[in-house]
Amino acid sequence: MGCNVDLFEYQARDLFDAHDVPVLQGLVAATPEEARAAADRIGGVTVVKAQVKTGGRGKAGGIRIARTPDEAAEAADAILGMDIKGHTVEKVMVAQGADIEQEYYFSVLLDRANRSYLAMCSVEGGMEIEQLAAEKPEALARVEVDPLTGIDEAKAREIVDAAGFPAEIGEKIVPVLQKIHGVYRDEDATLVEVNPLVLTREGEIIALDAKITLDDNADFRHDNREELAETAGGLDPLERKARKNDLNYVKLDGSVGIIGNGAGLVMSTLDVVANAGERHGGQKPANFLDIGGGASAEVMAAGLEVILGDEQVRSVFVNVFGGITTCDAVAEGIVGALTSLDEAATKPLVVRIDGNNVDEGRRILAEYDHPLVTVVSSMDEAADKATELAATTDLAAAH
Ligand SMILES: Nc1ncnc2c1ncn2[C@@H]1O[C@H](COP(=O)(O)OP(=O)(O)OP(=O)(O)O)[C@@H](O)[C@H]1O
Ligand SMILES: [Mg+2]
Repeated sequence: MGCNVDLFEYQARDLFDAHDVPVLQGLVAATPEEARAAADRIGGVTVVKAQVKTGGRGKAGGIRIARTPDEAAEAADAILGMDIKGHTVEKVMVAQGADIEQEYYFSVLLDRANRSYLAMCSVEGGMEIEQLAAEKPEALARVEVDPLTGIDEAKAREIVDAAGFPAEIGEKIVPVLQKIHGVYRDEDATLVEVNPLVLTREGEIIALDAKITLDDNADFRHDNREELAETAGGLDPLERKARKNDLNYVKLDGSVGIIGNGAGLVMSTLDVVANAGERHGGQKPANFLDIGGGASAEVMAAGLEVILGDEQVRSVFVNVFGGITTCDAVAEGIVGALTSLDEAATKPLVVRIDGNNVDEGRRILAEYDHPLVTVVSSMDEAADKATELAATTDLAAAH
């Protein structure tokens, strides 16, 4: 349960295509020869892209432009076998080259805490979303989406308006958002992210990169090769530990460690912490960590250990909405992590739990009665407390 499946970009592209989301031609290749043939078929300038389930491929050298089929073969030769953040590249996608005028961001995801969906959209694309959310929260529009009505035309308009698109471009984006939502709904996805969604020189809107996470209930054959790639080096030790435990972890630059379940909830947590941090000497989120929808006490403990292992972290905010992961499991994970860390646990924890079995969860924490743990009931209160603690721990360290 709760083990979601991430698709490769080429699989996501094909699903988009099947749902009429505008995409460019793209063919998958496992050898330089196949890449040459693909580029020949597509014609013109192509872009050879590493197929690994992680972002930052461009910065890692996993995306190259090819002007001819020969260049595509050369690019594939260089990219195949490459290690990107611990993932070995076994396939590339040869994509038609786009003439990019502007890059935007759009995603729709499950927001467990509110039992709804969340759409996020920005006129600033290209940057990693966790970074955008932490550094320029005002540039990221968040719009709640009712699961029953989904993203219809009116909702799509609301989203593009909230993101601040000029009217003319907004009009072109509206139908694309509706179609992307169609993919989300019909494929049982928990996340569809398009980064970047682009405006081309010819004035067309195209999904240039796609990340889709499917619910594990969806009928899908998963290949586990990714796990094998883990043994390869290149990952920061915290990220490696997170990956091993199937945690979605992104290190950021601040002092408040964040752990939650569900990308939507964690995103809103980053937001309230960034806001509250302004009242406490500019404290910021130290990371994005989503333990997922069906996490056990062990996963919770592993997540907490990852965060407590980050030297920049001065306080931790645990924000979990109990669903499949019940609040008592979360509480047991906290107790388990603190017990195993013992004297190495020196950072204050602010815990906000709500939802399934919340009373039992609170009871477990009250009984454990650890001096570093504060249980609060609202998210704003928790954010305030966690940022305050981060600021004061800071002072203590300076003395
Ligand atoms: N088909 C294409 N035509 C032209 N440019 C492209 C194409 N695909 C990707 N790019 C360029 O490469 C950038 C990174 O591509 P993409 O978003 O697919 O990869 P990524 O893994 O998210 O990379 P990163 O995190 O490094 O931006 C895009 O923002 C875009 O500028
Ligand atoms: Mg991208």
